[in-house]
Amino acid sequence: MSGHSTYEPKTGIEKWLEKRLPIISFMHDTGVSYPTPRNLNYFWTFGAILTFMLVAQILTGVVLAMHYTPHVTLAFSSVEGIMRDVNYGWLLRYMHANGASMFFIAVYIHIFRGLYYGSYKEPREVLWILGVVIFLLMMATAFMGYVLPWGQMSFWGATVITNLFSALPIVGEPIVTWLWGGFAVDNPTLNRFFSLHYLLPFMIAGVVVLHIWALHVVGQNNPAGIDIKSDKDTVPFTPYATVKDLFGIVCFCLFFGWFLFYQPNFLGHPDNYNMANPLSTPAHIVPEWYFLPFYAILRAIPDKLFGVIAMFASIAVLVFLPWLDTSKIRSATYRPLYKIFFWIFVADAVCLGYIGSRPPEGGYIIAGQLLTTYYFVHFLVILPLLGFIETPKPLPASIADDVLAKHGGGGGHPAGAAASPETRG
Ligand code: HEM
Repeated sequence: MSGHSTYEPKTGIEKWLEKRLPIISFMHDTGVSYPTPRNLNYFWTFGAILTFMLVAQILTGVVLAMHYTPHVTLAFSSVEGIMRDVNYGWLLRYMHANGASMFFIAVYIHIFRGLYYGSYKEPREVLWILGVVIFLLMMATAFMGYVLPWGQMSFWGATVITNLFSALPIVGEPIVTWLWGGFAVDNPTLNRFFSLHYLLPFMIAGVVVLHIWALHVVGQNNPAGIDIKSDKDTVPFTPYATVKDLFGIVCFCLFFGWFLFYQPNFLGHPDNYNMANPLSTPAHIVPEWYFLPFYAILRAIPDKLFGVIAMFASIAVLVFLPWLDTSKIRSATYRPLYKIFFWIFVADAVCLGYIGSRPPEGGYIIAGQLLTTYYFVHFLVILPLLGFIETPKPLPASIADDVLAKHGGGGGHPAGAAASPETRG
């Protein structure tokens, strides 16, 4: 996007390296001089927060794996050993378990930010679809990670979810046997889940590189949803975005720290402190909180196969979102009707999560079915129609105008709101 590099190698070593591997100019162009829209708000720090969380999960996970034993007779006690006998093992394990939840909180904020500001629209379709791929990989990783401590929920969660594939006609049963590596969730299943749980985060890291590459090709969207028109609309990534991202990461760590040090088991399930017992089914098998909306969609449909199809479709529909939303206007700020439907959709997703945590009986069944129907109506009916019936509000002439309209003051200064007192109103 930036064309010719603005980096000038100074020392002899820099010049030598630049001719052979221009890695410093690459880092300079992506992390220092990269033109960033000057109106970004704190929702744009979540990409950096997610990158930080991915690294934190990999580091804590690698050390946990040094003390963990992937065998059905030893897995549970090796995790107890980490908690009691390994130096700071409790911290590592709580960081990793709560870190997974924090990762999902951050990714949901990141996704809903994209939905609100229309970041999935032309020309950011590939960037968005890569995001959906990351989201799927994250879900697979979290699901397999939860099986590793070999508690009751680990075992029964794995049994329920892998059994879903048996709904497929003819190939269903053989697929489940193949996934399990036997005729029940057992030692081979635990072993392959451990292997894949270790592998997938590195695949996520690879797709994140593509995600950020695509971002740097098309440039960042911004709260006004309009394109960059001149240099006045941007500030250099460093120091403006770097400092803001760091501040966002610190605030997020405080939030994370509160769970970690005061409520480390709040987001988990107490049944997982009982070792897996294939002969005793827990009264309610519930997945981790971040899967609950999808679990509700799965159970909303009485037929197992169609339930599975609906659950996968609820994520697959996101891939087609750039084409389902027919409005040319990106940001919900200038789309009065979409803004209302956006918040209804948020409420729908939260309520689906609540239904997913309840037993499938009585009014919860009807509520789950209505909420599931609305989920699909939002994407397949409302979004395509809105583009035709909505009258958008007038857009600001430029990003600089958008900032100055809010903060007053003279144009041209890169810090916008920090324009000198003489130039303000
Ligand atoms: C490990 C997970 C992820 C990481 C590390 C990550 C990283 C990033 C980073 C660093 C940015 C630029 C800063 C920002 O806009 O916040 C970004 C932007 C973006 N991401 Fe992600 N992302 C992840 C997951 C996702 C997912 C799951 C989606 C959607 C399904 C997604 C969609 C987007 C979009 C559309 C943008 C462009 C936003 C804009 O410019 O307005 N990302 N991501």
